[in-house]
Amino acid sequence: MNVNKKEYVNWFRHSSPYINAHRGKVFVLMISGSAIRDANFDNIIHDVTLLNSLGVRLVIVFGCRPQIEERLHKQEITSAFHRAIRITDNTILSIVKEAVGALQIELAAKLSMGLANSPMHMAHINVVSGNYVTAKPKGIFNGIDYQHTGQVRKINGAAIKQHLDTSSIVLVAPLGYSPTGEVFNLPLEEVAIEAAQHLVADKLIILSSSEGVCDDSGNLLRELSLVEGRSFQEKLTPQDELYRTLHAACQAVNSGVKRCHIVSYKHDGALIEELFTRDGVGTLLGQDKYETIRVATIEDVGGILELIAPLEKDGILVKRSRELLESEITQFTVVERDGAIIACAALYPYDDNQSGELACVVTHPDYRKGKRAANLLMHIENQARNAKLQQLFVLTTQASHWFIEQGFTPTDLAQLPAQKQQIYNLQRNSKIFIKQL
Ligand SMILES: CC(C)(COP(=O)(O)OP(=O)(O)OC[C@H]1O[C@@H](n2cnc3c(N)ncnc32)[C@H](O)[C@@H]1OP(=O)(O)O)[C@@H](O)C(=O)NCCC(=O)NCCS
Repeated sequence: MNVNKKEYVNWFRHSSPYINAHRGKVFVLMISGSAIRDANFDNIIHDVTLLNSLGVRLVIVFGCRPQIEERLHKQEITSAFHRAIRITDNTILSIVKEAVGALQIELAAKLSMGLANSPMHMAHINVVSGNYVTAKPKGIFNGIDYQHTGQVRKINGAAIKQHLDTSSIVLVAPLGYSPTGEVFNLPLEEVAIEAAQHLVADKLIILSSSEGVCDDSGNLLRELSLVEGRSFQEKLTPQDELYRTLHAACQAVNSGVKRCHIVSYKHDGALIEELFTRDGVGTLLGQDKYETIRVATIEDVGGILELIAPLEKDGILVKRSRELLESEITQFTVVERDGAIIACAALYPYDDNQSGELACVVTHPDYRKGKRAANLLMHIENQARNAKLQQLFVLTTQASHWFIEQGFTPTDLAQLPAQKQQIYNLQRNSKIFIKQL
C-alpha cells in the first residue's frame, strides 16, 4: 500500500468511533443566507449529503438576510428597523416570501444533485419542508408595530421527527404561520434555537463566517463553557455576526441542547473535520465539560478496542478479543471526550480474598499527562470500596513507576488470589503491585 493510501485507510479507520457516535443523532444545522452565497457552499452541501448517508438525522434551518436585502435594493425599497429588528410590512413580507421560496427551491435542488462524478452520486436524498413553525406577532414596542415580524410560538417537533425517521433532510425556513392564517418573518437564530430545543437535538451546528471564537490574541478557542460564551458575547455588539452566533449558541445550550458547534462556512471540509476528528476545527460550546468519566456500555466496545489495539500490538497489554471485551464491558470505566473514548481502565473483582484486579489502564497518547488515568483510578477505587474489596492489584510491564506514584507497592505472586496465580503468564514477567483500600 503506498503512503497516501495508508494515510487514507488510517484516517478512515480513525473516524469510525465518530461515525458510530453520530449515527441516529439529531443535528440542527443553522445556515445563514451569507453561508448559502459563499463560494464554499457546494462543498457544504456535499458534506451534508455525507452526514445524511452516515445516518445523521439532519434539520437545516436556513436564513436569507442578504437575499432579502438584495431584492429590496433592486426594487429600491427601504425597510424600517426598530431596535435593530426589521419591521415587516405587507410589501416587505411579499419580498421575504419570494426570497425564502427561491432559497428553499435552490437548497432542494442542490440536495438533489447526483452527477456520476460528484460526491453526491447515488445519494438520493429526500428533502421535505412544511408548516412546522407556529408564530405570533412580535407586537408593538414604544408605539411601533412590527407588523409581520414575528416570534416563534412552537415548533412541531413530532412532525419533523417523522421525516427524520425516514432519513429525509428537513428544511426549515425563517417563516412561521399563525392559527389566524398569517405568515410571519422570523429571525433565523430564534428558529434554529427553538428547533434544536423542541427536537431535543444532540447538536446545534452554526455555520459562521469566522472559524469560531478567538481569544484576545486571535487564538481559536476550541471549547467554551456557557459562562465563558456569555462573557465573550458581552464584549461584542448586537451588530456583530459573532454576537448573534454566540447568543444563539448560549441560548440553545441554556435551553438544554447538549452541544453547540460554531464552524466556518468558508473553510472547505470544516463540518467534517469538526465532527470526525478528535479536536475539530471550530468552537464547541457545551452545557458542561464535554469530557466525562463513566462505566462503559456495549456501545463503547469499538472505541476501547481502537484505544488499546496499538498497546496490544506492542505487547504492553494482553490481547483481548471483541467477544471477551463485550462480555466484560461493564467492568470497564471510560473517559469519553466528544463521543470518542480517550482513556479506560477495568476492575475485575476476585471473590476469594476480597481483591480486585486493576487492568487495561490506558490513556490515548494525545491526552496523557492530564490526570485522566489518575482520575480513572480514583473511580475504580471507589467502585472497589463499594464492592467491599480490600485491595487492588495490578500487573504491569511498562508502568511500574506510575503505579508506585499512585500508592501501589511491589508484591509477589504468592500474594495474589489463587485463581490469578494459576493463570499468571510467566513469559510476560509482569511486575505485580498492590494497594490496600
Ligand atoms: C500510564 C498511563 C495510563 C498514564 O496515563 P495519564 O493519563 O497520562 O496519567 P496521569 O496524567 O494521571 O499521570 C501522568 C504522569 O505519570 C507519568 N507517567 C506516565 N507513564 C509513566 C510510566 N510508565 N512510568 C512512570 N511515570 C509515568 C507521566 O510522566 C506524568 O508525570 P508528570 O506529569 O510528572 O510528567 C499512560 O501513560 C498509558 O496509557 N500508558 C500505556 C499503557 C500502560 O502501560 N498501562 C499500564 C498497564 S495496565
